[in-house]
Amino acid sequence: MINIHIITPFPDIVESVLSTSILGKAIDRKKVIYNVINLFEYRKSDSERIDDYPFGGGAGMILKSEPIIEALGSIKEDFSRVIFPTPDGNLLNHDLSLDLSKEKTIIFICGHYKGVDQRIRDKYVTDEISIGDYVLTGGELPSLVIIDSLVRLIPGVLNTYESAEEDSFFNQLLDGPHYTRPREVENMKVPDVLLSGNHQEIKKWFLMQRENKTKIRRLDLWNKYKSLKKNRG
Ligand code: 6GU
Repeated sequence: MINIHIITPFPDIVESVLSTSILGKAIDRKKVIYNVINLFEYRKSDSERIDDYPFGGGAGMILKSEPIIEALGSIKEDFSRVIFPTPDGNLLNHDLSLDLSKEKTIIFICGHYKGVDQRIRDKYVTDEISIGDYVLTGGELPSLVIIDSLVRLIPGVLNTYESAEEDSFFNQLLDGPHYTRPREVENMKVPDVLLSGNHQEIKKWFLMQRENKTKIRRLDLWNKYKSLKKNRG
């Protein structure tokens, strides 16, 4: 069971996604508890702002430190990971998601505007994570991306754990093609081998598809895969 706390000025964005589909099912299966914390509730008064102008000037507003410190103080259990999603963070990848999926308590602080007072990052944040080289308007979507990627790796969240193990990146290979009924659609047929019932041939075919796609699209992954295969013998 992982406790995930999300501190945000826009709880609605986060709540709808976390209650739907597999992320919601993970709650029913007692694999995760989400606690969405509305940053506005941790102001000293209703007239206080959660953001303010930057010292030294410049464009954009900065999230103030005190409401965030108060919101962190509302979390009663011990925590070791505090994540601040930010485009200047370390790039998210499978290994980091797998690492996070083994934690007991994770806190997300969703930044907005020009970001958050640096002292929050200095004192409380343990992980600054980016989800790619582009800029989004706030930390909610990246938090949800990170949460989605880690929750599906908690054993028991997906129906069979293998369905995660065969995904892209689990074994340094991209995923291959998949087909379902009907056997023919707009003159396009399902590859014969998949209808052959020969499980060894089918396995070989899937591996070849994955290897070829990885070689063409991601030479970096392909080289990693080849050197791992060599070391395994
Ligand atoms: Cl983590 N935050 C924002 N605002 N933009 C991003 C990002 C994060 N990762 C990529 N772009």
